[in-house]
Amino acid sequence: MILQLLLLVVFFVCAWLYLKWSRVKNYWLKRGVPHYPPHPILGSLTFLQRENPSVWMRQLYKDFNAPYVGMWQFWRPALVVNSPEIARRVLVKDADFFRNRFLSSGKSDPIGALNIFTANDPLWSSLRRRLTAVFTAAKLRSLNGITISKSKAFVERIAVDSKKDDPIDLRTICTDYTTDVIGEAAFGVSSNCLAEGDSIMRKVTREFMSFDLHRGLSWSSIFFFPELVDIFRFSFFPKDTIKLLRKIFRTVIEQRGGYEKEVKDARDLLDALLKIKQEAVRDNEDISEDLLLAQAAVFLLGGFDTSGTTLCWVVYELAWNPQCQERLYQQVLELKRKIGDRGFDSTVLSDVGYLDCVIKETLRIYPPMGWLDRIASKDYKIDDKLTIAAGTTVYVNGVSMQMDPQYFPDPEVFNPDRFLPENERDITPYSFMPFGEGPRSCIGMRFAYQTLRQGLADLILNYEFKVIPDSPKPSDIGVEKKGMFLMPDEKMSVQFVKRDNEFVNKV
Ligand code: HEM
Repeated sequence: MILQLLLLVVFFVCAWLYLKWSRVKNYWLKRGVPHYPPHPILGSLTFLQRENPSVWMRQLYKDFNAPYVGMWQFWRPALVVNSPEIARRVLVKDADFFRNRFLSSGKSDPIGALNIFTANDPLWSSLRRRLTAVFTAAKLRSLNGITISKSKAFVERIAVDSKKDDPIDLRTICTDYTTDVIGEAAFGVSSNCLAEGDSIMRKVTREFMSFDLHRGLSWSSIFFFPELVDIFRFSFFPKDTIKLLRKIFRTVIEQRGGYEKEVKDARDLLDALLKIKQEAVRDNEDISEDLLLAQAAVFLLGGFDTSGTTLCWVVYELAWNPQCQERLYQQVLELKRKIGDRGFDSTVLSDVGYLDCVIKETLRIYPPMGWLDRIASKDYKIDDKLTIAAGTTVYVNGVSMQMDPQYFPDPEVFNPDRFLPENERDITPYSFMPFGEGPRSCIGMRFAYQTLRQGLADLILNYEFKVIPDSPKPSDIGVEKKGMFLMPDEKMSVQFVKRDNEFVNKV
């Protein structure tokens, strides 16, 4: 009798699973949306840990050539958007219905959950309103001192490392530079990794960069299946790094006179965060230490590798494209001659248009965060044929549109001229979005440009970048499979040859 009962239960469970699976499997078919057939358990997520999500998105874009494609996160349907026009509506025009990201870092990790990147409404709106004030042009100008001094150390470090037998590892040295800049700006603690070979901030960012199996699974889960995050106690930031960052944060705040000491002119991002807390107190609102620490930590995590790896790609591509390099060098040299003893800073560098063309072209081919994640808060009409249900995740497939010959002819060719003002105005709106778009776009974009322009201008004034014989072409460099962002998975090196001009050694 017990056996019969058991068999009956098994039968009903199997029948229920079968019916449910049939519904799941036919979800996009019924709606006429193209899709790869889903895996019975993982849905479309079979690529995780085996292929970078951006590479998967690019393949899907090529395979379907459709404005949108259906996918599944396990059994949950989601939509990949491949059309600039639909991207515009989701990210900008109807952004009020897409304020939240699907990714979530769960509740077991307070710093992971409280930062602006992972937070959703209502916390996100209030954070974004306050943090926008941290990145104004005036505040960024106050960071000039940091970018200028770190960029000088960058040039000097290359002079030292060029004498060694081993070729310089570009990604390491570029992320040393961005760690020093952002670490010092966000935590107010001096970070001299470039000059001294290591720093406490660099220990933290090195840990951020290491994607072992556990961290790979944590991030896969945070980005694609957040329900598992609390069950396995996955964390957005590696736990040890948060302990260390908390200690640094408290020490520096104490050194600055504590939370009560009034901040008049914010000299860095940390001061700007302290000011936010003081203004909140005046408005009878409480902002906890964890909330402030979470923002400083996400500036570091969100900024150092994205900017550092972009700079690494810029230098590598310029080595392979000597005409572009020469043109940039001549423009930077001309500017330097014009400004004389005044060093480069964010104000003068914003005038070298070609500098930005080179950075943008690099970000077009290698956008570190190439797909943008939003969740629909209500049923939403994508077009006359498709309405998605409230709660559906939408991934805007920027990484693929940026390589579509329809929008960027000969997309494989590194051609910064695409972004000259006379050409840029012809680029289809919303086909180029390396910093995202709309109210949830990258809050650190201007700071990233400032850091990149400064580092690149000083480097190119001092060195010519040359291809090392037998090194792989840029397009042959592999991509990290376990991480979520588009990052190289092998060492990239160029030869730095000292230039012959009156400014060498004087930056
Ligand atoms: C080349 C460098 C960088 C790239 C390519 C980049 C790209 C992005 C992208 C694509 C997003 C998502 C936008 C969206 O969903 O629409 C984002 C968000 C964000 N980025 Fe950046 N980023 C860079 C540098 C930085 C820097 C230097 C910082 C901080 C100092 C930063 C802080 C953030 C934060 C806090 C968010 C979340 C904004 C929000 O959700 O409101 N990023 N970034």
